[in-house]
Amino acid sequence: MIKACVIGSPIAHSRSPLIHNYWLKKLGMNGSYDRVLVEPEELKNFLAHLEAKGYAGCNVTLPHKETALQYIDIVDESVRTIGALNTVYLKNSKTHATSTDGEGFLQNLLATIPGFDVSEKHIVLLGAGGSAKAIIERLLRANVASITVANRTLDRAKVLKQTFGAKIIPIQPPALNLKYCDILINTTSQGMTGQSPLTIELSELPAHAVVADIVYVPLKTELLQRAEALNLRTVPGLGMLLHQAVRGFELWFGAKPIVTPELYDLIAHDIDPDFKS
Ligand SMILES: NC(=O)c1ccc[n+]([C@@H]2O[C@H](COP(=O)([O-])OP(=O)(O)OC[C@H]3O[C@@H](n4cnc5c(N)ncnc54)[C@H](OP(=O)(O)O)[C@@H]3O)[C@@H](O)[C@H]2O)c1
Repeated sequence: MIKACVIGSPIAHSRSPLIHNYWLKKLGMNGSYDRVLVEPEELKNFLAHLEAKGYAGCNVTLPHKETALQYIDIVDESVRTIGALNTVYLKNSKTHATSTDGEGFLQNLLATIPGFDVSEKHIVLLGAGGSAKAIIERLLRANVASITVANRTLDRAKVLKQTFGAKIIPIQPPALNLKYCDILINTTSQGMTGQSPLTIELSELPAHAVVADIVYVPLKTELLQRAEALNLRTVPGLGMLLHQAVRGFELWFGAKPIVTPELYDLIAHDIDPDFKS
């Protein structure tokens, strides 16, 4: 039996077991995916003994996404650039790490708006945290034209220009020009249940613009509702969570799973029992 898990602290809230165990069952595979509470002082030891504990790999979540890097044998290019990882797998008894959030974002965008081409697009991205870095790294590889990074703490956006280069334009809200924006992406925690609202004015966006929010609690954020009211195309965040999980499952269990409407409904119901597909 192949085993994988998600590690973090706290970990009880993680929906990754629901996703991976759904796929294991669907594919009729003999495997398991658990939640494991790992405190910061236990992280080194846990990763060093991943194979001895019988795991093929693990997802890594808060607060270990950055600190885990130092305990991994081989990290890929995206992890080196972003400075964070979310997926660990074993190969020839060595630990390897990758980051799947950027790919999850892109695949969710393409699944929501089939045929959409991000190349040469002008992006406005709100936030400069961990998920912003993963998404920027992936969008630059997809050859977008520019990414305006709007962040409350301007210095963090400026650091991203140093990391990612000339296509990054750091700014501090509210100095936001949306007239030429093709894709607006919220990567801040604003708009999430229990957090402050995101009050950005959308009326300046061109009619062809796409508005994506990576926040998925609530499933349809106020930002997405306001974008819909303006007849703009929208991309909700839950799909990113599902699509980022595909690569890990493939690396550990050896089969590529599919993000289906049934899986979306399962996780959406877990988030909001009143959800109707
Ligand atoms: N859909 C998915 O699969 C997925 C994946 C990852 C994350 N997420 C969600 O994305 C959000 C961000 O995650 P993260 O890991 O990138 O977090 P993070 O590294 O902590 O970054 C948070 C960002 O939000 C900004 N921010 C927070 N509160 C703000 C406020 N009141 N006003 C203005 N800006 C504020 C921060 O600005 P400063 O730099 O000024 O502090 C920073 O840029 C979370 O809600 C998380 O649940 C979703």
